[in-house]
Amino acid sequence: MDWGMSNRLAQLIQPDGHCFFMPIDHGYFQGPTHNLERPGDTVNQLLPYFDALFVTRGVLRSSIDPAITKPIILRVSGGTSVIGKDLANEGITTSVEEAIRLNVAAVGLSIFVGTEYERESLLNVANLVNECEKYGIPVMAVTAVGKELEKREARYLALCCRIAAELGARVVKTYWCENFDKVTNGCPVPVVMAGGPKCETELEVFEFVHDGMQKGAIGVNLGRNVWQNEHPVAVARALQAVIHENATPREAFDVFKSFKDAGE
Ligand code: 5RP
Repeated sequence: MDWGMSNRLAQLIQPDGHCFFMPIDHGYFQGPTHNLERPGDTVNQLLPYFDALFVTRGVLRSSIDPAITKPIILRVSGGTSVIGKDLANEGITTSVEEAIRLNVAAVGLSIFVGTEYERESLLNVANLVNECEKYGIPVMAVTAVGKELEKREARYLALCCRIAAELGARVVKTYWCENFDKVTNGCPVPVVMAGGPKCETELEVFEFVHDGMQKGAIGVNLGRNVWQNEHPVAVARALQAVIHENATPREAFDVFKSFKDAGE
C-alpha cells in the first residue's frame, strides 16, 4: 500500500486497530436534524472522545474550525431528501479535487443494494475508488437502508458489505444486527457500525457496540445515539471505553453514569 493511503488509514484507525468515527452528515438529506441544528456546537463538546469526523463540505467549511486536529471523512454522495421521491437515487456531489483541497483523510458515500438505484450507487463506488486510489484517499462505503430499517439483518448486510469491498471500498460502514459475525466474516475490509435512530436506553447502545466489536467490527460511525442523548459527552466517553479500553457494556454504563452525575 502506498504511503499516502497508509498514512490516511492510520489517522482514522488508531494503533489498537479500533476507531470511533463521529458522523454529523445527516443534514445532507434530512435538514436540520434534532441536536445538529448548530453542528459546530455539537462537535466541539465531543472532540476529546472521537477519532474522526464524518461531514459534508458545506458543514465542514461553515461550522468546523480548520485548526481541528481530528481527521475528516468527507461525505461525497447526496442529491436526495427525506421528502423526495426516493432516497436511494444518490449521485456523487463532491469532486476528488475538492476532497484534496479540504485535506481530508477519506471520503464516504452510500450504496443502496436491492433498490431501483442499486446499479448507479454501486458504479458510484467503483468510479470514486478509481479516482481516489490515484491520490491515496480511502473510500468508506455506507450500506444505507433508507427508511426500511427492517433491512438491518445479517444476510442482507453481509451482501452489501461484501459488494462494497469487492468494488474497492477500504472501509465499510453498516448496521449492527443479530449474528453480526456473518457480516464481518464475509467482508475482507474493516467494518464499522452505525447507530441508527436513537435507542431506548444507553445500555442498549453499549451492548450492541460491544457485541459487534466482539464479532469483528473495528469500531463505530455512530451519531444520533451520542448527540441526541441528553448527556452526549457521557455517552461519547462511555463508547470510547468500549472501543478503545475493552470495557464491558456494564463498565461503560458506569462510565456514562459517573460523567452524567458530574454534570456532563
Ligand atoms: C447518515 C449516515 C450516518 O453517518 C450514519 O447513519 C451514522 O449515523 P447514526 O449513528 O446517527 O445512524 O450515513 O446518512
